[in-house]
Amino acid sequence: MEPQTGHTRAMLVVGNWKMNGDQASNDELLQAIKQYWPHDNRAQAAICPAFVHLEQVARTLKDTPVGWGAQTLNPNDNGAYTGEVSAAMLTDMGCRYVIVGHNERRRLQSESDAQVAQQFAAAQQAGLIPILCVGESTAEREADQTLMVIRRQLTAVTAVVGSEAFASAVVAYEPIWAVGTGKTATPEEVEVVHKYIRQEFGALGNRLPILYGGSVKPDNAANLFAKADIDGALLGGASLKANDFLAICRRAHEAR
Ligand code: PGA
Repeated sequence: MEPQTGHTRAMLVVGNWKMNGDQASNDELLQAIKQYWPHDNRAQAAICPAFVHLEQVARTLKDTPVGWGAQTLNPNDNGAYTGEVSAAMLTDMGCRYVIVGHNERRRLQSESDAQVAQQFAAAQQAGLIPILCVGESTAEREADQTLMVIRRQLTAVTAVVGSEAFASAVVAYEPIWAVGTGKTATPEEVEVVHKYIRQEFGALGNRLPILYGGSVKPDNAANLFAKADIDGALLGGASLKANDFLAICRRAHEAR
């Protein structure tokens, strides 16, 4: 029988460091995570630093339960793409995950739904687990278009890779208005969207990890994780502080 409840999926907490850090501050943060990682913690965790810091993160976190990944990738195999990084380069660095379609890349680097789909496909072909970010803007939410936007973002990807590809993928719901703003969506608002995403995938939806991202902090994580369809978090700001990151991982462990 297919598992029927959210409680059968492992919890996952991913830290998106964005364009932050240097070797000294990264080392401090990583050493603290290593030292204080609770040995009984059932939640999975990963760190996604800037490309230039992947080697440092990989070296420091190897032999720990914490994985790592990148914040984006170029879908081409190799060649004349100055400044870009391929999926194979990421697997070569030991990455397990790669974030695709983060709203900051969709907006600031003009990445289209179609490009995000290509990135998702290239990531999976190389054996990476794509973390596909979807989410609506303030205007879209106010116009009651949230689910329509999510559907468009998901369909762009399933049209290229098929729904079955989500058997080894993660979806992160990140309402743009909640990212980096200190305004968190309520657990109820998040749950509506997560349920919708799960339904879109039919039976497979029961196994799909769906994270929430947008101003998750130690003091709101427990309420979010208490919802059956919220399988963890994609963290920005909170992943830059070892205490916050560890506290949220702890909440994830306690939730299941
Ligand atoms: P935030 O960022 O936690 O700082 O809101 C989340 C994200 O961008 O993934």
